[in-house]
Amino acid sequence: MKFSKTLIYWYLQNNRELPWRKTKNPYFIWLSEIMLQQTRVAQGMGYYLKFTEEFPTVFDLAKADESTVLKMWQGLGYYSRARNLHFTAKQIAKELNGEFPSTYKELIKLKGIGDYTASAIASICFNEPNAVVDGNVYRVLSRYFGIKTPINSSAGIKEFKILAQTLLDETQPGSYNQAIMDFGALHCKPQNPLCESCLFSDSCVGLEKKLIKELPVKEKKIKVRNRYFNFLVIKTNDKSTILSERKGKGIWQGLYQFPLIESDKSIDKNDVILSEEFINLFPNETTISLFNQKEIVHKLSHQHLYTQFWVVETAFLSEAKIKWSEIEKYPVPVLISNFLEAYQLKSN
Ligand code: ADE
Repeated sequence: MKFSKTLIYWYLQNNRELPWRKTKNPYFIWLSEIMLQQTRVAQGMGYYLKFTEEFPTVFDLAKADESTVLKMWQGLGYYSRARNLHFTAKQIAKELNGEFPSTYKELIKLKGIGDYTASAIASICFNEPNAVVDGNVYRVLSRYFGIKTPINSSAGIKEFKILAQTLLDETQPGSYNQAIMDFGALHCKPQNPLCESCLFSDSCVGLEKKLIKELPVKEKKIKVRNRYFNFLVIKTNDKSTILSERKGKGIWQGLYQFPLIESDKSIDKNDVILSEEFINLFPNETTISLFNQKEIVHKLSHQHLYTQFWVVETAFLSEAKIKWSEIEKYPVPVLISNFLEAYQLKSN
C-alpha cells in the first residue's frame, strides 16, 4: 500500500533516536509505552532512563516498595499508571517467571495494558500485526483521509482502529506503528503542520479540502459531576419525620427531601454518625441502619447521584413535624418517591 510505504520511507530518514528503540526487550518497551501515555517524549525520557537504571529487570521493579515507585514517578502525573505498572510487574515476576506474554491477546489481560499498549508491545517486540491508535494516529489518519467522525465517539474509535489496521504494513508492524506516531509528532503536528514540505501533499484529502485546522474532530463531552447523597429517613415513636423544601437554584428546586448529608465520596455508618449534621440533628439516642445495601445511582444529565438512605429511629425529635401518614402529599424527587415506595412495601 502506497500510504504505508511512503510513511516508512519518511521514517527511515526522520526517525527519532530514542533509548527504547535500541531494544526489543518487552519490559523496556512496556515501561516506555506506559510512560509516554499522556506525556511527551521529551518529558518521559528522563523518567525512562531513571527507571531502567534503578530497575533493570521486571524482578527489580516487582521487588520495590510501591512508595519508591510512586516517588520515582513523581511529576509524570496520572499515578494510577505507576500503581498498575508495579502491580503488573509483581504479577509477571511471580506468576509468569518474569516472562512477558508475547501476544496481543495475552498482553491485554494485564492490568494497565489496554488496546494501545498491547498493540505497541506485540508489534514492536513480537512482530504481531496489530495497529496502534494514539493521538498522533488519529490526527494523521483523520487529516489524510478527511474523516470527520469524532475521535472520542464509539463510532470513531472503531472506524479509526479498522482503518489503521488495514493500512498496517504487516511485514514490519513495529516500524510502521512507530513511523505513524513519529510522523504525527514531528511532521503532521497539531499546530503548524508542515504541509508545504509533506510527502503526502498530493493525496492528502484534508489538505485538498482545507480541513487541516479542524481535523481531527473531537466531540464535546458533557462533564458529569458525581455527588454522594446520604438521606436521613427519620422515624420517631409518634410516627413523624423531617422533610424540607430544597431552596435555591439547582436540582429539585421546590421539591421536598429528607435531611441530607452530602459527602465527596461514599461514606459508611460511622462517618454518618460522626458528621456535624448528624450530631446537630440528634441530641438523643438513635438507631441507624442502611436501607439500600447497594448505592442507588440516580443519573441526571450532568450529575450522577450516588445515594444511600439511612433509616434513623429515635424516640422523639421536636423538628420532626411531618406525619408519615401524610408524606404522600409532598412533592418529592423521583429518587425519593422510588425509595418511599420500596420502603413502605417493606415495612407493611
Ligand atoms: N509515542 C508513544 N510511544 C511511541 C513510540 N514507540 N514511537 C513514537 N511515538 C511514541
